[in-house]
Amino acid sequence: MFSKTRTPKKYCIIILYSCALIVSFFAFIAPAGASDLSALNNSCVDCHRTLSPFTDEQSRFNEIRQNHTERNISCSLECHEDIIRKKATDNFQQWSDSGHSAYYVTCDACHGGNPRAKTEAEAHASMKGVKDSNSSIYFKNIPETCGKCHTEELDHFKNTMHYQRLQSESRAPSCVTCHKPHTFRVLKASELVPLCSVCHNPVDQIAAASVPKDAKNALEKAAELQEDVLNAKNAVADAKAKGKDVTSAQLDLDKATAVMDSVPSLWHGFNLKDFDQQVNNGIDWAKRAQFKTSDAEPTVPARAPGVGIAAVFGIFAILYLIRKR
Ligand code: HEC
Ligand code: HEC
Ligand code: HEC
Ligand code: HEC
Ligand code: HEC
Repeated sequence: MFSKTRTPKKYCIIILYSCALIVSFFAFIAPAGASDLSALNNSCVDCHRTLSPFTDEQSRFNEIRQNHTERNISCSLECHEDIIRKKATDNFQQWSDSGHSAYYVTCDACHGGNPRAKTEAEAHASMKGVKDSNSSIYFKNIPETCGKCHTEELDHFKNTMHYQRLQSESRAPSCVTCHKPHTFRVLKASELVPLCSVCHNPVDQIAAASVPKDAKNALEKAAELQEDVLNAKNAVADAKAKGKDVTSAQLDLDKATAVMDSVPSLWHGFNLKDFDQQVNNGIDWAKRAQFKTSDAEPTVPARAPGVGIAAVFGIFAILYLIRKR
C-alpha cells in the first residue's frame, strides 16, 4: 500500500529529471545561432564582422531614423527600417542573416583564402578577385563554386541554355543573378516576373516573351503541390490513427513527396513544360492519396485479440467463482 502511494511522486521526479537532462543536452549540442559565430575560429568571419562600411547615404537614413525615434514618431520603423536594413547592410551582415551562416558556410567556402591566418594580407593571399577569370567567384565559375555543395542544382543547370550562354557570351543568369550575394534567399513565385523580365521581354526577344509569366505559374503550382502533400500527409495519419488500412494511400503519398522533394533541383533545368508535367503528376498522386483515405477499409481492430483474451479469462474467472460457492 505504502509503496503504491509513493510511486506517482517518484515517477514525477524521474520524469522531471529526465526532461531537465534532455533540455540541457539539446541546449548543449544545438547548432549555435548567428550570434555564436565567434566560436567558429574563422578569421574571415572574425575580422569582417568588425568592418561596418556605412556609406554616406546609409548614414543619412540612419540619422533620419534616429531623429524620428527620438521624437517618438511611430512611423520611423515602418517608413525607414526596411530602407535602412536594405541599405545599411554589408556583406557580412547579409551573410550572417542568411541560411549559409546558420550552416557555417563561411566566406572562405566561396572566396577561398586562408581562414586560419590572422592578418588581412595572409588571409587574402591566395584569394582571387571577382574580375580574375580564375577566381571561384568569377561570373562564369560561380555555378561550379556553388555546385560543390548544391550538386543536384548544378547537374540540372548544366543542361540549360542558361549555362551554355553563360559560358559562351556571358549574357545569361548565373546562380547569383537570381539568388543575390549574400542573402542567398529562395525566391518566391511573385518575385519571378521582374527578375526573368530583365532578359525575357518583348523587346529583347530572348526565348519566349511569356517566360516570366510561365515561370510564375509553374512555381505557384509547385506551392500548390506542397499544400496538397501536407493535406494528404494529415489525412493518411488520421486514417491510420483510426485503424484504417492506408497501405495504398501511403504509396501514392510517397510518390507525391518524392516529386515535391525534387522540385528545387528540377526547377534549375529551366524546362518549364517538363517541370509543369512533373508537378502535375505530384499533385495527382497527393490528391489520390487523400481520396483513398476517405474510403479506406478499417483494418481488424488492433485491440481485438486483447479484448478476446480478457473475455475468455473473465468467463473462466466467473465459472471458477460460481464453482467455489
Ligand atoms: C584582419 C582582417 C581581415 C581578415 C582576417 C580577412 N579580411 Fe577580407 N577584407 C578585410 C578588409 C579590411 C577588406 C577591405 C575593406 C572591405 O572591402 O570591406 C577586405 C576585403 C575582402 C574582400 C573584398 C575583395 C577585395 O579585393 O576588395 C573579400 C572578398 C574578402 N575580404 C574576403 C575575405 C575572406 C574569404 C577571408 C578569410 C579567408 C578574409 N577576407 C579575411 C579584412 C580582413
Ligand atoms: C555562398 C558563397 C559565398 C559566401 C559564403 C560569401 N560570399 Fe562573398 N561573394 C560570393 C560571390 C559569388 C560573389 C561575386 C558576386 C557577383 O558576381 O556579383 C561575392 C562577392 C563578394 C564581395 C565583392 C567582391 C569584390 O571583389 O568586389 C565581397 C566584399 C564579399 N563577397 C565578401 C564576403 C564576406 C566578407 C563573406 C563572409 C562574411 C562572404 N563574402 C561570403 C559568394 C559568397
Ligand atoms: C560549402 C557548401 C556550400 C556552398 C559552396 C554553397 N552553399 Fe548554398 N547552402 C549550403 C547549405 C549547407 C545550405 C543550407 C541547407 C540547405 O538549405 O540545403 C545552403 C542553402 C542555400 C540556399 C537556400 C537558402 C534558404 O534560405 O533556404 C540557397 C538559395 C543557396 N544555398 C544558394 C547558393 C549559391 C547561389 C551558392 C554559390 C554562390 C552556394 N549556395 C554555395 C551550402 C553551400
Ligand atoms: C534564373 C534564376 C535562377 C538561377 C540562374 C539559379 N536559381 Fe536557384 N532558384 C531559383 C528559384 C526561383 C528558386 C526557388 C524554386 C522553388 O521554389 O522551388 C531556386 C531555388 C534554389 C535553391 C533552394 C532549394 C530549396 O531548398 O528550396 C538552391 C539551393 C538553389 N536555387 C541553388 C542554385 C544554384 C547553386 C544555382 C547555380 C548553379 C542556381 N540556384 C541558379 C532561381 C534560380
Ligand atoms: C541575364 C539574362 C537572363 C535572365 C535574368 C533569365 N534568362 Fe532565361 N534565358 C536567357 C538566355 C540568353 C536564354 C537562351 C535563349 C536562346 O538563345 O534561345 C534563356 C533561355 C531560357 C529558357 C528557354 C529554355 C532553354 O533552356 O532552352 C527558359 C525557359 C528560361 N530562359 C527561363 C528563365 C526564367 C524562368 C528566368 C527567371 C527566373 C530567366 N530565364 C531569367 C537569359 C536570361
